[in-house]
Amino acid sequence: MSSYEPSNSGFDIWRLLIAGLVGVAIVGGLILISMAVSESAAGGTAETERVNVLANSSNECVVCHERTTPGIVEQYGHSSMAAAEVACEDCHVVPAGYPGSVEHEGTFVLNQPTTAMCEECHQTEVAQYSQSRHGLPSYVAYAGTGELTTEQLALYEAIPEGSYAPDKMRNALFALEGPEITEFACVECHKIGRPAADGSIGECQQCHLRHEFSLEQVRKPETCNHCHIGPDHPQYEIYQESPHGIAYATGGHNWNWEAEPGTLDVTDFPAPTCAICHMSGFGGAATTHDVGERLTWYLFSPISERRPAYQDNMVRMQSVCRECHNQNFIDTLYTNADAGTEKINDWVVESDAIIAPLKENDLLTAAPFDEPIDFTHFELWHHWGRTAKFGMWMQGPDYTQWHGAYEMLSDRAELIEMRDAKLEEAGLPVPESE
Ligand code: HEC
Ligand code: HEC
Ligand code: HEC
Ligand code: HEC
Ligand code: HEC
Ligand code: HEC
Ligand code: HEC
Ligand code: HEC
Repeated sequence: MSSYEPSNSGFDIWRLLIAGLVGVAIVGGLILISMAVSESAAGGTAETERVNVLANSSNECVVCHERTTPGIVEQYGHSSMAAAEVACEDCHVVPAGYPGSVEHEGTFVLNQPTTAMCEECHQTEVAQYSQSRHGLPSYVAYAGTGELTTEQLALYEAIPEGSYAPDKMRNALFALEGPEITEFACVECHKIGRPAADGSIGECQQCHLRHEFSLEQVRKPETCNHCHIGPDHPQYEIYQESPHGIAYATGGHNWNWEAEPGTLDVTDFPAPTCAICHMSGFGGAATTHDVGERLTWYLFSPISERRPAYQDNMVRMQSVCRECHNQNFIDTLYTNADAGTEKINDWVVESDAIIAPLKENDLLTAAPFDEPIDFTHFELWHHWGRTAKFGMWMQGPDYTQWHGAYEMLSDRAELIEMRDAKLEEAGLPVPESE
């Protein structure tokens, strides 16, 4: 490391450098002060630029990485963890031979620190995360349980998901498309629950984008948008068209994004983001990294069932709503959305009944996704049924109607026509029109 220490001959250069830095610091300070003044004048609460606490660090990782990966040092230097003196080593350096590590500058490092590293200091968050569907269920959804250790399998099986679990259809597309595709598709979203080489589960950095670990970033809906989007789970699009999303889009720049976790209320956030409803400590609800803790239904299932202990979950979610809405209003929404969810269930049950004669007469091929009717039957629940339900619960009328119920009706008509054609072709009687 000697090349980074000031030598005698470089002394004058160092004096100049230090003088320069002091100058920069003074000018920087003035800019900060003027920014703070103009922000308070505008009534804004946006975060004042934090200083880079690593700017003068003598930590050897920092000194060298300032040159090799300046972006990382710059970002981490502005984080509150760096300010709390959490060092590069705390997340990256592991004992020799640690699973997944590489030898580096006389130590062993992890290129991707695992949740086992975070767990040293954040036990609660790691425990809640690993018992949630962001943990192993996300991974099993595409990879199956084949690669899990006995311990991981037990952990996975302890996370309930209703009777949908045995449905093996879930992995058919993954197998069909092959790794050249799925690495950029299923895996990109579902790796949020992937086990690491050391056996620990999940990837915190899927939400806490490295190396800033910023509360503002993680509380914004764009963070969830990487995965909660698209025809089968358009939660982000639904949020955008909801009154909450409109409040965010039009006034969000004034919200108190960096407020201390666990203390948030309507004075910080006049309307909720995804994080506020599902994760943040808000009003009477405590902060959680178990995103299932406030949900009453398994909405992702073809036919939704109630979650175990759903009443407790409902109380948690409603204590968020209660900050801004009265109980009567919330009860009405829940009653109506329960009824809507059951109506969608009925339509999905009916879609199974429509194609039942084909199954009974062996008129469907055994392979999934090899004929048009497989796709229509799948999309009816997987895209439109789910979307209709999400729209009801999260205030997205266009998604409940035109990307939901309407598409279900349209697919239903197609299913009937496809079925009848197959039955006629086989010389079998066509059922009375439904
Ligand atoms: C003398 C310079 C130097 C020092 C000291 C140093 N690094 Fe590095 N580090 C590098 C270079 C160069 C790379 C490769 C960058 C590249 O490939 O773009 C690297 C890569 C890495 C990687 C990625 C490894 C991989 O295989 O992809 C990590 C993580 C890392 N360093 C962490 C650290 C930590 C933590 C420390 C302190 C214990 C440290 N480094 C000390 C220069 C250094
Ligand atoms: C709080 C934990 C934490 C701290 C502290 C931390 N890192 Fe990281 N670092 C991570 C995580 C998590 C990743 C993996 C990100 C990913 O794969 O998306 C990572 C990735 C990296 C990489 C690989 C990036 C790449 O694109 O290949 C390097 C290099 C690195 N860190 C260097 C550093 C240096 C240098 C410091 C100190 C200035 C540091 N890290 C501090 C958590 C940390
Ligand atoms: C050596 C202990 C240590 C490790 C390891 C560690 N953290 Fe932290 N972390 C802290 C401390 C201390 C704070 C509190 C900083 C503050 O708000 O003052 C913190 C705060 C945070 C915050 C809140 C930031 C804020 O602005 O309030 C996040 C998010 C976070 N850590 C994520 C992670 C993740 C993800 C990992 C693993 C990749 C990790 N931490 C590893 C000690 C650690
Ligand atoms: C854009 C990100 C994204 C992609 C790509 C993606 N998924 Fe998902 N997937 C999700 C999200 C988000 C959910 C959760 C929906 C919910 O809970 O309402 C989900 C739910 C699921 C579920 C239902 C939950 C469960 O565990 O039973 C399965 C199964 C699943 N995905 C498998 C796959 C497979 C297989 C692929 C690739 C063919 C894939 N997904 C591609 C984001 C994605
Ligand atoms: C689904 C996205 C998501 C994932 C994945 C995630 N977090 Fe968070 N995390 C959040 C959100 C959102 C907040 C801010 C909650 C709030 O508004 O107070 C947060 C806050 C935190 C805080 C500050 C909490 C406090 O009460 O001070 C820590 C520490 C933290 N996360 C650690 C982790 C660790 C460790 C992991 C991985 C085991 C992780 N997070 C994974 C979304 C996530
Ligand atoms: C990297 C992708 C990814 C990101 C980012 C992500 N999620 Fe997820 N999320 C998933 C997947 C995959 C599932 C489905 C897991 C399953 O059921 O198998 C899921 C499921 C959920 C569920 C349903 C949990 C349950 O018990 O059924 C909620 C709620 C959720 N996420 C909220 C959020 C919020 C809020 C954010 C942003 C702060 C977020 N997610 C960010 C991938 C992601
Ligand atoms: C106003 C509060 C609120 C906001 C904001 C919100 N949600 Fe939801 N979310 C809910 C409610 C309520 C449900 C249905 C809960 C139930 O089952 O009882 C739900 C359901 C979900 C589910 C379905 C889980 C399952 O069973 O399949 C996911 C995933 C989800 N939300 C993610 C998100 C994401 C991502 C965002 C932001 C883009 C978001 N939510 C914004 C309240 C909210
Ligand atoms: C931080 C405050 C806040 C929280 C928390 C909150 N909302 Fe809202 N909500 C609003 C605001 C603001 C509006 C827009 C009011 C308007 O239409 O003028 C709104 C509108 C709505 C609407 C549409 C009302 C209409 O007349 O069209 C529904 C439904 C709703 N919220 C349900 C919920 C539910 C359910 C929850 C909890 C899961 C919740 N909200 C949590 C602030 C909040």
